[in-house]
Amino acid sequence: MSTSRREFLATSISAVGALSLGAGLARAVQPKDKAPVKPGAGPLKILILGGTGFLGPHVVDAAQARGHTVTLFNRGITEKRKGGLFPEVEKLQGDRDPKKGEGLSALKGRSWDAVVDTSGYYPRMVAASAELLADAVRQYVFISTLSVYADNNTPDADETAAVGTIPDPSIETMSDGAYGPLKALCEQAAEKAMPGRVLNIRPGYIVGPGDTSDRFTYWPMRAKRGGEILAPGNPEDPVQIIDARDLARWIVRCIEQRTFGVFNACGPVGGLTTAAMIEACRKAAGSESTLTWVETEFLANQGVGPGVLPIWLPQVDGLRGFHRRKFDKAVAAGLTSTPVEQTARDVIAWFPGELERRIRVTRELIEQAEKDGKPKPTMADPAKPRAGISPEKEAEVLKAWKARPQP
Ligand SMILES: NC(=O)c1ccc[n+]([C@@H]2O[C@H](COP(=O)([O-])OP(=O)(O)OC[C@H]3O[C@@H](n4cnc5c(N)ncnc54)[C@H](OP(=O)(O)O)[C@@H]3O)[C@@H](O)[C@H]2O)c1
Repeated sequence: MSTSRREFLATSISAVGALSLGAGLARAVQPKDKAPVKPGAGPLKILILGGTGFLGPHVVDAAQARGHTVTLFNRGITEKRKGGLFPEVEKLQGDRDPKKGEGLSALKGRSWDAVVDTSGYYPRMVAASAELLADAVRQYVFISTLSVYADNNTPDADETAAVGTIPDPSIETMSDGAYGPLKALCEQAAEKAMPGRVLNIRPGYIVGPGDTSDRFTYWPMRAKRGGEILAPGNPEDPVQIIDARDLARWIVRCIEQRTFGVFNACGPVGGLTTAAMIEACRKAAGSESTLTWVETEFLANQGVGPGVLPIWLPQVDGLRGFHRRKFDKAVAAGLTSTPVEQTARDVIAWFPGELERRIRVTRELIEQAEKDGKPKPTMADPAKPRAGISPEKEAEVLKAWKARPQP
């Protein structure tokens, strides 16, 4: 094996390491009460811990569309940056960390049918909210991640696959691959506090309008720009993504039907390849563009290894199972998929306004620092997308690809 190939594979595996670790699995359990909500039984009361980032607002929309009543619990920081959200929704302010300020006090003495925890990253904090709410809610829905799994090399692995572990489960940082194992421990903390009443949902890449990671967004916006598009790896490389709105609708449906246990949640139903994803984005964009497919190893040698061109991952050792998780259990429980072309179209409509919002927020933060006599905060250029490669880098790689020595 050549040095470059070895280096490339090492990069592949470490790039995905942050998405693949955790501890003992919170197993699917028999619900205490499987009865679905009867039509006409009245709206449910749903508490969301978080609710103003990316997935949360879609859960609010999905719950309201079904006639349910929503309460949000958060610090009020993100909502302010968005210029106010959901004026009609009840908002409770506090911190998930019981050690900070009033902590979870705002939740005391209240009750809901279900809580959706979209913002739990540390087991100590998930334990605190699940213990506090154990007698106040019927169901705890924890939004976990596919990153809990220890192994990304086994195609078609289901929810019974082992989760990763971490030497120190009390650390509260996302670095060094801690994210996945900590989420696995969060699942267990919820299950311990409310045995048999937890729904642990493990999504793959969540995409669509509102996604501030810009990962999937790179592709529709790249197609919109038109011209020669660098397409990575093998057109047949598989891709799994889930539209946040599909996930949100399914979360609400699971609450209505009292679904408990552990579920992988990705999509689309029926499968997707890298070529089909990019093609859907080109159709949605409607711009004049062409595709040039560049081989995986060549890309790695140009500094465009796995994770640099977002969403796409090559089928190499260490990654063969990454975009090939089984999620038929969720489909059987009602998960559906929006066509990727529709997701791409909605992202194209949303993203320009989102860039304007980021520029405004950055300006306001800098002005505030000046007013407070604090040093100017160091921040990334808000006008630049947060994922993908620049037009200059793309042109450079395409030029090098065409000039490569032919065998
Ligand atoms: N994006 C993906 O591709 C992906 C994939 C798999 C799994 N996931 C999981 O999906 C979930 C999605 O998260 P999201 O950000 O979209 O959720 P969200 O609920 O829309 O946004 C995060 C919320 O948490 C609140 N929050 C943050 N820190 C808090 C604290 N200390 N106390 C109280 N509230 C706090 C924020 O408001 P304030 O800042 O105002 O407090 C905000 O409302 C995450 O659990 C993530 O692990 C994501």
